[in-house]
Amino acid sequence: MPTTSPAAARVPRSGIRTLMELALRDPEALHLEIGEPDLRTPGHVVDAAAAAARAGTTGYTSSIGTDALRAVLAAEVARSLGRPTTPEEVVVTHGAMNGLALAFSALLAPGEELLLPDPEFPNWRMAAVAAGLRVGTYPARAEAGFVPRPADVEAAITPATRAILVNSPNNPTGAVYPAEVVAELVAIARRHDLWVLSDECYDAITFGVPHVSPLVHDTDGRVVLFRTLSKTYAMTGWRLGYAVVPHAGAHDLIGHLAEATVACPSSVSQAAAVAAVTGPQGSVAEAVATYRSRRDAAVALLAARGVPCVRPDGAFYLMVDVGTRDTDGFARRLLADRHVAVAPGSTFGGAADGFVRVSLAAAPEVLLTGLDRLADQLDEERGALVPACAAPVPQAAPAA
Ligand SMILES: Cc1ncc(COP(=O)(O)O)c(C=O)c1O
Repeated sequence: MPTTSPAAARVPRSGIRTLMELALRDPEALHLEIGEPDLRTPGHVVDAAAAAARAGTTGYTSSIGTDALRAVLAAEVARSLGRPTTPEEVVVTHGAMNGLALAFSALLAPGEELLLPDPEFPNWRMAAVAAGLRVGTYPARAEAGFVPRPADVEAAITPATRAILVNSPNNPTGAVYPAEVVAELVAIARRHDLWVLSDECYDAITFGVPHVSPLVHDTDGRVVLFRTLSKTYAMTGWRLGYAVVPHAGAHDLIGHLAEATVACPSSVSQAAAVAAVTGPQGSVAEAVATYRSRRDAAVALLAARGVPCVRPDGAFYLMVDVGTRDTDGFARRLLADRHVAVAPGSTFGGAADGFVRVSLAAAPEVLLTGLDRLADQLDEERGALVPACAAPVPQAAPAA
């Protein structure tokens, strides 16, 4: 029998998925572990896709996306960032994660180092290891509302480092990085001659604070931006994202690897994307208001129950302090004892020690019942007196 690749076997598995698979076997489980909007793709987007499919728009497109969609996306980036952006800078990708994976291979050689934030979204490391990269981390600590200190980022750079990944609004923490931190991260990259890979999957989901992209601080083409329609328009399964790559050589290589791997993004999804980005944006504003009110209700419930958390300013996640380093054990007990699935902090790295990630992308009654049961579990495990003594984690700055 031929052997399989040891390199592929080294790609780590995500603890979110492990927990989700356990939870799927429990029909009573309340699902707070999944990072997927519970809302529906807007009707006009579905209609546009159906019309395109009926009209025969079902063939291959350019590997970097249709001219029509790239023009629409360039205009959207220019509008949202106030930065002139051309269609020639855009690569349409099979979701943001595909864009990131292509960039890992196009911009870094095997053995070179990519710095990830800690806590981290596990799929970055999976894709980086698959590309043969070395992975380092920089901390984004709970005490600082999970916003990284630029000095910590600079201290994490080694002679092998070639790129820093920045993710604001952040998964798993919901932190939104202030403008001065974003500017300083780009300045550090310039000083050390690094790429900045900016994962902006949640750019549209902030709660009264601005999203600042590293791209607005780019002076020489080292910043690459990755966005997606997955979260903004509840389109996770349509697999449609895009990268803005100002550096012409990097753009060419990313597009080239796209051709070698996915051939092109789905033609029907591209037609849907034109409709999503150019059509009415009411559903986006509604979704953000929905996540925000769930965030407020969840934080209030936890405060009333004496359970510390770090209040998120964006995305749709809430980090809850469960006061034990064995967050995997806690998550498994919570599922087994009370039918609530959450993502254990251990899956996101050392800076998430003691926390579990709760998704706000769940119906309010599911979210609040789940958090109530989580508090019950903590009460039972700690004994009646302990919750009152738990050290509170400082909250991120209140949203305006
Ligand atoms: C931080 C982050 N990056 C990338 C992705 C993947 O997005 P897409 O569906 O566009 O591939 C996700 C999805 O959960 C995410 O949370």
